Amino acid sequence: MRLGLTGIRKTAGRAQAGAAQGGRAEPASAGFAFGFLCRFGLAAVAASAGLAGCDSGAPAVAADVGASAQHAPANPLVVASAAQALKVAAREAAPDGGQTRAQVYESVRKMTALGKQLFFDPSLSGSGKLACASCHSPDHGFAPANALSVQLGGNDMHRTGMRAAPTLKYLQAVPAFAEHYHESDDEGDESVDAGPTGGLTWDGRVDRGGDQARIPLLSSFEMGSSPAKVTAAIKAAPYAADFRAAFGEHILDSDDATFKAVLQALETFEQTPGLFYPYSSKYDAYLAGKAQLSRAELHGLQLFNDEKKGNCASCHISQRSRDGAPPQFSDFGLIAIGVPRNRALAVNRDPRFYDLGACGPERTDLKGRAEFCGIFRTPTLRNVALKKSFFHNGIYHSLEEVLHFYAERDTNPGKFYPVVKGKVQKFDDLPKRYWANLNTEPPFDRKPGDQPALDEAEIKDMVAFLNTLTDGYKAGH
Ligand code: HEC
Ligand code: HEC
Repeated sequence: MRLGLTGIRKTAGRAQAGAAQGGRAEPASAGFAFGFLCRFGLAAVAASAGLAGCDSGAPAVAADVGASAQHAPANPLVVASAAQALKVAAREAAPDGGQTRAQVYESVRKMTALGKQLFFDPSLSGSGKLACASCHSPDHGFAPANALSVQLGGNDMHRTGMRAAPTLKYLQAVPAFAEHYHESDDEGDESVDAGPTGGLTWDGRVDRGGDQARIPLLSSFEMGSSPAKVTAAIKAAPYAADFRAAFGEHILDSDDATFKAVLQALETFEQTPGLFYPYSSKYDAYLAGKAQLSRAELHGLQLFNDEKKGNCASCHISQRSRDGAPPQFSDFGLIAIGVPRNRALAVNRDPRFYDLGACGPERTDLKGRAEFCGIFRTPTLRNVALKKSFFHNGIYHSLEEVLHFYAERDTNPGKFYPVVKGKVQKFDDLPKRYWANLNTEPPFDRKPGDQPALDEAEIKDMVAFLNTLTDGYKAGH
């Protein structure tokens, strides 16, 4: 539960919220398949199919698509694209010369295949050594395979940024960034302001996968590439012919057009349901009545949900939404929980430097807006057990450490923050003038000497529960 910028928010109903775009495990539904066309940059495909512009007409069409969109989409882009899906369906034979549904699917299929090649191709980087997959390993929920707090990159492969690489799974459900988020699923009360919500990256600074992919490709401490380098790499790649076939014979003549196409293909690949949002964890099987949780796992789940114990589900939603969409284990809210400064990071050698999340320095549009300082987007906890570094600065390396932080941040702060001359430097990564932004709801509602919200045995069971969120569960394991 986030204490919004607008004051205390209603506490009931949040456990129902969060599946903004659904992400229902029914990839074949028209609303679902086409939902991502617009949201994830297939504007070009949608346009060439003779569809209306992706961003247009959302409110007007919301009513007629309600029934077939299957899950009340909170995102206007999704509403728009659901409407378009219907239009496409209604025009199967394409009498007016637009693309048929089959042709649209074929374009998506081609683009997905190309996106996959690009995702794994280190030749797109300046060093020739770094692919998207180097930091986002498919075997680790598309998070890093190693336990470094921040990954190595740049032309010499020795440079580092300030943030841990997140999982790329379940991002389809992240709504576009909004300073004031009103969710349609919140007990039907859209007047509830959930505060800043959504957007990609830890600070929510971009909304679409393509805009996001631009960041690591061009960043001097990540892939350190350029449109020209990317184009040269693709010309020399085994998939050059496929790239031309998908984007046009002359696409590689223009660096800018090629770069745009690359971003679009990556974005499309990241929307492959079976890879990125399979909903195949033990917990999903449990929700579907097809698996039982062990006693420890079940106890962990209870503690996770219990408002007086973990209270985790108030931000990391664990229940299906009212329309039955599976939980995303995030409400996508941006919130400050006072993660300690990671003194191992190169950027933090400068005592004046702070990564303040939404108010900068990586994000620039909310600069100087004090109420946005120190807030980071709540990550999904699906596949979190596959991660080896946790929180935006990668400071912790095990779930036990994270759980201890939640349980004892306020009861025993000296365990997490530096102690100088006997005095605990609490919230050492957030200047004092922003402390009003810090969350103080359970388990963060205590003071030194109080009983921690969770004891050792409870933490153990919660870790057991978090392990049920890993995709790829097979009955009998
Ligand atoms: C050097 C490591 C590295 C490489 C290479 C890299 N990323 Fe990332 N990725 C990160 C980090 C770190 C973040 C978080 C950035 C932030 O919050 O500012 C991130 C964030 C993301 C996100 C947003 C996730 C979220 O939770 O919102 C997406 C999507 C993504 N990367 C896709 C890609 C793609 C596509 C490529 C290849 C073009 C790529 N990444 C290459 C490290 C990397
Ligand atoms: C007030 C909202 C809120 C509550 C309550 C909350 N979290 Fe979080 N959680 C966050 C935010 C925000 C982050 C990212 C913080 C950052 O990196 O600065 C996070 C990060 C995490 C991470 C790290 C994930 C990663 O990919 O690095 C784990 C694990 C986690 N939370 C588990 C829990 C558990 C377990 C509980 C209950 C004990 C809990 N959270 C309660 C908001 C919350």
